[in-house]
Order: sequence, then structure tokens, then C-alpha cells
Amino acid sequence: MGDLTTLDDLVAQGVAGKRVLVRSDLNVPLDGATITDDGRIRASVPTIRTLAEAGARVVVTAHLGRPKGAPDPAYSLRPVAARLGELLGREVAFAGDTVGESAHETVDRLEDGGVAVLENVRFNAGETSKDDGERGAFADRLAALADAFVSDGFGVVHRKQASVYDVAQRLPHAVGGLVQAEIEVLRRLTVEPERPYVVVLGGSKVSDKLGVIDNLLGKADKLLIGGGMVFTFLKAQGHEVGKSLLEEDQVEVCREYLQRAVDSGVELILPTDVVVDTTFPSGDSTPAPQVVPASGIPADSLGLDIGPDSARAFAGALAGARTVFWNGPMGVFEVEAFAEGTRAVAQALTEVTAEGGLSVVGGGDSAAAVRTLGFAEDAFGHISTGGGASLEYLEGKVLPGIQVLEDN
Ligand code: 3PG
Ligand code: MG
Repeated sequence: MGDLTTLDDLVAQGVAGKRVLVRSDLNVPLDGATITDDGRIRASVPTIRTLAEAGARVVVTAHLGRPKGAPDPAYSLRPVAARLGELLGREVAFAGDTVGESAHETVDRLEDGGVAVLENVRFNAGETSKDDGERGAFADRLAALADAFVSDGFGVVHRKQASVYDVAQRLPHAVGGLVQAEIEVLRRLTVEPERPYVVVLGGSKVSDKLGVIDNLLGKADKLLIGGGMVFTFLKAQGHEVGKSLLEEDQVEVCREYLQRAVDSGVELILPTDVVVDTTFPSGDSTPAPQVVPASGIPADSLGLDIGPDSARAFAGALAGARTVFWNGPMGVFEVEAFAEGTRAVAQALTEVTAEGGLSVVGGGDSAAAVRTLGFAEDAFGHISTGGGASLEYLEGKVLPGIQVLEDN
């Protein structure tokens, strides 16, 4: 973060009375209007509070879900703004649009130290447009609401979007405390990580993880793979996977990775047993889980978690690690019958922390998983608020939302 203007620098320059636009990542899981995990809102509070306490007029912009560039009440940030107000312990104004009349009125009414949240920035087609001109035109309207910009939405810094990227080119800008903290931790994973360095990857799609696997095969000591993506690896090993998730077009790539792991001396560990069911349990079907060898998944079954032997082996492989990065659940942890693998990995990470190692939980789903399963947040070295963003950082990609802050 060498040359970036930090939040502290910005505050030291004086923000009292100034309108500061803060891009936060408030993309939280909702059940109707009920927030089921407020981790990202809590993580966004310190930067907003610091600015408010310094007398800034804080204007928060954020997205929720992936609406199609037009207002959609199902994706309103209103409940999120209410939760932010509770956490801040102060009133938070809410604008019913992002850059329209309501936004201007709301911002004009802010007093020094006041906080407002603008409606979902993705209700505007310009936000996510691939066309630089369209994005720029929208960024102009966002920038008109503020005197300075603070980039604090770590979960979106890999997105070249108007409120993340283009707006920073239009206003004096600083890196927020959350983004700064996230980058500092990720740097410890990439610059001479303390060894053994173990990476655990899960989640449903192997195609999302190819870049990071590619990069980690040269860096990690052990790579443990579970979750839906594991079946493409099992297929690459020559096993049948029944009705499990499978990305046929990635089988060959997985085969290459298995070979590269051998060549480079990285221990790539796959489950040896799997919890399967014949139907994906939904409201009207009760799970009937069965444990089968990973090499013998019946044709009518789908894998929904790593099995108990694998969970023990994964925990064993994590024991004694000094650095761990984990992204992606091992199974369908939302259903208790398929939560054990994810629980075992989470538990093993807490033991790494207890032994003084660095354990990092990367990303939305895994972060929500550890909280849903009842683990204490401080049992981990760091719980990242960004899944895609942390993976792209570890892939060695340039993150547009960080890069843009480097040019002043
Ligand atoms: C996330 O939830 O991963 C971030 O908020 C980014 O959202 P996106 O993947 O829809 O850009
Ligand atoms: Mg994402």
C-alpha cells in the first residue's frame, strides 16, 4: 500500500464539512428483508465511523445482489441502511435513488458527522457497463455528490465498475481501513508465507478457481480440495461421479493440475470418501445421507460433502500449518447432514490460530459458513469480506479498484 493515501492521511488533511463518498461492500445475504449475516456491514462500520467522527458528511454507496441495471425492490438497500444505523448507533439517512433527486436532497440535508446511504448503485445501468463512456457518465453523476472518495468495498475491488473504479479518477481519493487491512493480510499469504502453507479450496465451480490453483501450485505446500468442484478432479482421476456436479470441459485441466502437483512436489489432497444422497434435499425431501468411497460413487447419487475419513485427513493435513488460506465450503453446509466436512476444516483452522499460525477465511460463502456453524470470529486470524477479490489477489491479478487508487 506504499504510496496510497490512507484514511488516516485523508482525515489528517481535514474532512470536517466535506462530503465524502464511501464505496462499501454491503452485499449481505437476505431472506426477504431479513439480513441473515451482517458480517460485511459490521466490517464497513469502522471507516464510516472514523469519517463521521472527523466531521465529514458521509455518503455511502454500495450494491446488493445483481439487479439488471434498473430499480428492483427485491434488491433495495433500505434494510441494510437500517442495520448500519443500529451498528453505528446513529441515524442513517436513506436516499431512494443513487444519483437522482432523492440522493441530492439527502446529501444536501446532511450535517457534519451525518451518514447517508444511497440506493443500490446497480439500479443504474452505467455502474456495470462494459462501455467506458457509459460508466464514466454515471461516475460523473456519483462524483457530483461528493468532494472526496474513499474506497472501502474490498469485496468489489476486482470489479471495474463506476463506483469502484471510474469515480476514483474523478475525486481526490483514499484507501479505506477495511481494504487496507485486507490487502495487508493477503500480502502475508503471497510474500514469503510462513511454512507449511496450506490452502483449502471448495465451493461449487472449479472454473472459478482455475487461476488460483494454477498460481498456488507453485507456492503452497499442500492443496486440499473439497466442495462441488472436487468431482471434476475425481473424474480426472478416472472415477465415476454419479449425479454429482461435474464440469466436463474442465476435466482435462484438472488432470494437468494433478500432474503438475506431482511434478512440483505440492501435496494435492482429494477426499477418499464422500457423503452422497440420491436427491438433493429440498423442503419436501429428507436427506438420506450415505458415505461411499470417492472411487465408488453410485450412478444414482450425488456428492454433497466430503466423508468422515476425508474430514479427518484434511484436519490432519492442516495440523501444524503456519499459514492457511481457505475459500469455499466442503459441502452443502446449510443442511446439517452435509455440514461436517466444512465444520472439520473450520475447526482445524481455529487450531492453527491457537498455535500461533495465520488462518485466513476468504470470502462471502466461507465467511458466512463459519459464522452459521457457530465459530467465533476471533478464532480465525482473518475473515475476509471478499471471495472473488481475495482469489484474484492470490492469482496475482491486478485489482482495478486498487490500481486506480495508485494514480493520483
Ligand atoms: C460478492 O458478493 O462477491 C461481492 O459483493 C461482489 O459481488 P459481485 O460478484 O456481484 O460483483
Ligand atoms: Mg462474488
